[in-house]
Amino acid sequence: MSKPRVFITRLIPDRGLNMIRQACLVDLWPENLPPSHTDLLKRVKGVDGILCLLTDTIHSEVMEAAGTQLKVISNHAIGYDNIDISAATQRGIQVGNTPNVLTETTADFTFALLLAVARRVVDGQQVVRTGGWKTWDPLFMLGVDVHHATLGIFGFGRIGRAVARRASGFDMNVLFFDPTPDQSAKTAPLNAKAVNMDTLLAESDFISIHSPLNEQTHYLFNQSLFAKMKPGAILINTARGGIVDPEALYQALKEHRIAFAALDVTEPEPLPQDSPLLSLNNILITPHIASASHATREKMSVMAAENLLAGVNGKGLLYCVNPQVYMK
Ligand code: DGY
Repeated sequence: MSKPRVFITRLIPDRGLNMIRQACLVDLWPENLPPSHTDLLKRVKGVDGILCLLTDTIHSEVMEAAGTQLKVISNHAIGYDNIDISAATQRGIQVGNTPNVLTETTADFTFALLLAVARRVVDGQQVVRTGGWKTWDPLFMLGVDVHHATLGIFGFGRIGRAVARRASGFDMNVLFFDPTPDQSAKTAPLNAKAVNMDTLLAESDFISIHSPLNEQTHYLFNQSLFAKMKPGAILINTARGGIVDPEALYQALKEHRIAFAALDVTEPEPLPQDSPLLSLNNILITPHIASASHATREKMSVMAAENLLAGVNGKGLLYCVNPQVYMK
C-alpha cells in the first residue's frame, strides 16, 4: 500500500518531522517564509494531510484545492483561528492542535514580559548600552512593584491558570474573568478570584490576555475597554493580536490612559515597520515567541506529527478541535 501524502508548510523540529517522514510521502515547503495562498493551493493538491502553522490561512478554498481525500489538518499551535473549522467539519476533515505542551512555557514568557515592563529591564539595558548610566540615582529608572499588585487575567484556561500560579509566588492579588466560565470555576487556583469584566478592568494593575481569538473576542479590547481600565495599568498580550484593536491601543498608550503594553502578538503579524505602535516609548513588542523554547517546540512538533499520522491513517486525533466531525 502506498504511503499517505502530506504537505508540511514549514520546517519543524526534527523529532516531529522524522516521525512523519517515516510514515508518509512528505512535501516540505523549503522557504523560511510561509507559502503564498497560490503556492498553498498548488501544493495541497492530492494530499491526505496538511501540517500547517498559525501563519497559514486554511480556508475552504485550500480544502477544496486539496481534494476530497484530505482527511486531516494538523496545526502546529494551540490556537487555530487560522483554520476555518466549520468548513473542515462540513467536509469531514479532522483538525488537530497542540494544547498542554506549551502552557508552562507560555506562562513563563508572560511573566517575563510582566516583569520586564514593570521593572524596565529592556529600557535599563538600552540605557547601559548607550552610555546613559552615569551614577546611582534615587530617581533613576523607577518602575512599579509586581509584588502585591493586582493581576487581572482575561481567559482562565490552562495558560491563564499557569500565569495565576506564578503570580501567587509574587504575592499578587489575582482576579480573573473567563468568557467561558464553566470550565474555569472548578479548577481555579485558590489565590484567584472570579470577577466580572468591569471589575477586572477597573481593579487590575496588570491585565494579561489568555483567551482564544474568535468572534466573541475579536477587537474586544477596544476604546471603551481601555477607558474602563485603571489609569496606569499595564496590558500584556501573549494570546492573539486580533483580540486587541491596534488603533484603540495606540490612542490609549499615546494619551497615557494606560501606562504600558507588552505584546508578544500583534495585528497584523509581523507588525509593519511603519506601524504607529512602534513610534511609542511605552510599548514592548516581541515577535510571537512565548512558546519558543527548544523543549516546547519539539513537543509541539511531536504532537502535531501524532495528530497528522492518526488523521491520515483514518484514526481519531488525540487532540481534535472539531470532534463534531466524528458524528458525521
Ligand atoms: C500557539 O500555539 O497558538 C501559540 O500562539 C504559538 O505557540
